[in-house]
Amino acid sequence: MNNKITNENTVWHEPTVYRKDRERMNGHRSCILWFTGLSGSGKSTLAHAVEDTLHKQNIRTFVLDGDNVRKGLCKDLGFSDEDRTENIRRIGEVSNLLTQAGVITLTAFISPFKKDRQIVRDLVEDGEFIEIYCQTTLDICEERDPKGLYKKARAGEIPEFTGISSPYEEPDNPEIVLNTGESSIEDCAHQVIEYLKTHKKFEQEIN
Ligand code: ADX
Repeated sequence: MNNKITNENTVWHEPTVYRKDRERMNGHRSCILWFTGLSGSGKSTLAHAVEDTLHKQNIRTFVLDGDNVRKGLCKDLGFSDEDRTENIRRIGEVSNLLTQAGVITLTAFISPFKKDRQIVRDLVEDGEFIEIYCQTTLDICEERDPKGLYKKARAGEIPEFTGISSPYEEPDNPEIVLNTGESSIEDCAHQVIEYLKTHKKFEQEIN
């Protein structure tokens, strides 16, 4: 990155259509559903299952998925600690923009570092970053190995692989913990939807 670039000569342009206007038009609030956990813990499957349910209720949603985003916006990034931090920073900013656009954003990234997740949490208002820990053991993820990556990592073919040769820091106080090792996808998705209902994200009356 070019450290000489500064943004000191940019000036914030105030919009005339605000997030609240968009939320009122949509009939629901926006927020970020941040799925975190090991590779193979079910983040993407669950994000899409929750999106499917929300979409059927005419709720505006968008899923940002690690593997997909790394083919476009983040294709210049690898898996060093620094690159993962930059990956999550970009996704945090995109999620914030989508939240301003009135969309419920669902993200499926390992996002292994607490400090990086905290940075995203701090970008939005209290209660708008909903951290969802997809909790499973490494053994279960490795047994599932849906992409065959754990096998390669154990064989030394993939360096810095999360859970094997790169750390994963569990969330301390996630809003939701899903036992994705034992519960069904339907049960886990239901748990997320219930959380949204309880926290009034579907309220029609938006001030
Ligand atoms: S993160 O750590 O920066 O949040 P991200 O969620 O974008 O990771 O990407 C993880 C996905 O990339 C995994 O699900 C897996 O398919 C793939 N992958 C490739 N190499 C690695 C690696 N070294 N560690 C973890 N995942 C990897």
